[in-house]
Amino acid sequence: MNTKINIAGVEWKNPVTVASGTFGSGEEFSEYVDLNRLGAVTTKGVANVPWAGNPTPRVAEVYGGMMNAIGLQNPGVDVFCERDIPFLRKYDTKIIVNVCGHAPEEYLAVVERLADEPIDMMEINISCPNVNAGFLAFGQDARNVETLTAQIKKLAKQPVIMKLTPNVTDITEIARAAEAGGADAVSLINTLTGMKIDIHRRTFALANKTGGVSGPAIHPVAVRMVYQTAQAVKIPVIGMGGIATAEDAIEMILAGATAVAVGTANFADPQTAEKVVEGIEHYMEQYGIEDIHDLIGGVRE
Ligand SMILES: Cc1cc2nc3c(=O)[nH]c(=O)nc-3n(C[C@H](O)[C@H](O)[C@H](O)COP(=O)(O)O)c2cc1C
Repeated sequence: MNTKINIAGVEWKNPVTVASGTFGSGEEFSEYVDLNRLGAVTTKGVANVPWAGNPTPRVAEVYGGMMNAIGLQNPGVDVFCERDIPFLRKYDTKIIVNVCGHAPEEYLAVVERLADEPIDMMEINISCPNVNAGFLAFGQDARNVETLTAQIKKLAKQPVIMKLTPNVTDITEIARAAEAGGADAVSLINTLTGMKIDIHRRTFALANKTGGVSGPAIHPVAVRMVYQTAQAVKIPVIGMGGIATAEDAIEMILAGATAVAVGTANFADPQTAEKVVEGIEHYMEQYGIEDIHDLIGGVRE
């Protein structure tokens, strides 16, 4: 049985990774999960300098998932390179580093710093607010996405995955812009912007007022967007959003995802990604599927 996939020349042993920000940088989860079993580990977002994140409270529970406004707290790329990359290198898995910034210069500084590091791929989080565009997220403007992708591709030595926000009118337009800018792959979806009000305190549940909704509640939205995006671009699509079981992951693959990421489900059960790998293998056995490629985009019309 073949579960190997290849994205821009990088071969993963299976199509399963973890979603950025839900698995730390691997170390805190390595006690519970055999990282060697995962196709890739995707790290939490890293910026050119340390970010403190947003004021608390910054997480809340909602029906079928959670909301967060962590604000991309991170130690900065220098600490990340010294501490987290050597740890992950000890495992037989691919390393995808998630990159964030408030302005193109900030993204480019991280990409340049990572260029000679032993990592396999970069994932660019374009859900960050752009200080030069009235804090509209980079990923909400197709022209910005194309320009930023092209700038990053000039400096990057590893394949570049552009991570799309679902908070747009037409995600396929943004995906096409990333492809036109030279992206090697796109990943989707990031969180959907939501709001929760604590009626007893009569105030917002999150200090930031709004936050990103994730977890099983967003899964059908993610499957729809992955399907539409896979139809719209030729580059590989990495699907995520509410995957909690192998069945959810297979749905995403049938919709057109070459690979999938497990996010919020890691908080409830840190072994979810490993169980998804096993569940996909079991499904392939059950239906006599020899090659994972026979499932990718295989939904019947
Ligand atoms: C607590 C938390 C932190 C996150 N941090 C990041 C991040 O640093 N960079 C990023 O691109 N996405 C981040 N995300 C988004 C996830 O990677 C993922 O796209 C989203 O949560 C949907 O998947 P899920 O429903 O399986 O969690 C974060 C999500 C959560 C819940």
